[in-house]
Amino acid sequence: MTLTRTFEFSMPMEGIVFGIGTALTTGARTARLGASKVMLMTDRLVRGAGLIDPIERSLRDAHISVEVWDDVVTEPTFPAVAAAVEFCRGGGFDTIVAVGGGSTLDSAKATACLVGNGGTFMDWVDGSRIATQKPGPRLILLATTSGTGADMTRGAGAIDPTTGVKHWLRSRYRSHLTICDPELTRSAPPHVTAATGTDALTQAIESYTNRNHNPLADALNLEAVRLVGRYLRRAVANGDDMEARAAMMYAASVLVGLGFGNAGLHIVHPVSQIVGDRYRIPHGLSLGLLLPYLLEFGLNGCIDKLCDIARALEVPIDGLSPRDGAQRAIDAVRQLLADVGTFRPLREFGATEAELNRLAEDFARRPPEVTGAALAPRPVRTAAELSAVFRRALGTYAAAEVSPALATRGSG
Ligand SMILES: [Fe+2]
Repeated sequence: MTLTRTFEFSMPMEGIVFGIGTALTTGARTARLGASKVMLMTDRLVRGAGLIDPIERSLRDAHISVEVWDDVVTEPTFPAVAAAVEFCRGGGFDTIVAVGGGSTLDSAKATACLVGNGGTFMDWVDGSRIATQKPGPRLILLATTSGTGADMTRGAGAIDPTTGVKHWLRSRYRSHLTICDPELTRSAPPHVTAATGTDALTQAIESYTNRNHNPLADALNLEAVRLVGRYLRRAVANGDDMEARAAMMYAASVLVGLGFGNAGLHIVHPVSQIVGDRYRIPHGLSLGLLLPYLLEFGLNGCIDKLCDIARALEVPIDGLSPRDGAQRAIDAVRQLLADVGTFRPLREFGATEAELNRLAEDFARRPPEVTGAALAPRPVRTAAELSAVFRRALGTYAAAEVSPALATRGSG
């Protein structure tokens, strides 16, 4: 690490509140920020699980007028965001309180940006005009899953229904306040806990191994890897294990959300997204299917960082060469994901070699700014390289044959 180079770091404007039961303080905290009229955004599943009522009550107890908008959909589309924007504008709300997973939090961030600045979602995808953005309604975010870190980040994803492609709106502002209450994650079922925890682990590793210089983000991401390694299995095994739930929320939102939210990612998310979109695999799961193979693909570019990850995962590597230590980190990641059910052959999801080759060609044609090439320890340069990774993820090769040597063989 060198501290002679510049880095930047930003956080929610009014800070972060973390703790079991803190969702019940939403009303008092929102009132202190000067709010009088709140749009309470969520989806019907979260509302049906009874998570909204106590928060709505706390807002009313603080003498704040509240209207609930529960039309958020999983993987929001441009029209879904536009509907929320119209509701927000029509209601004259000064504050949006959003309670949910990544889809809800992203919808809220996009709504605030578009209400404050007008235009369409695509008008704010290009970051060149970001300095002209004005703040929209206040944003107060509460995550109900431990994974995306969307309660800390500035981007908001939504799908263009005409092409099926997900685009990312870039907001100049983070939330005003992010409240992390692990109690809100208690009812998440094991497969959701596993998938969202896989997202958190992937974001932490992908951010730590990228080529951005951000020592503060590095420290946060590495501590997150340690906590996910220690607590994800427990949170999946028993959702009422609040020590594990709290550790996962701290890791996913506070540490990784701020870590990757400031230092960025590289190729794992863009590659997983094209596969997830094609086979309709949920985000976190699509990452788990590919993460170990993509780490092996990039191993030569980040050996020392992978050794740090091995140590964070409490894997003994003393006496090993750095290269073998790096491989131990990847093996430990693979084992963790297999234990929680998010490391499985792509074949299980209907993938075929011919179709994956087509996706690899599609990926190789994309501009480098959307493929993570600039920050990757080893960028994908040809479709053949990525096809080799996909073949292994497909399940063509038995586990015993999985070796980083294959990753270099695919570069021709
Ligand atoms: Fe993610």
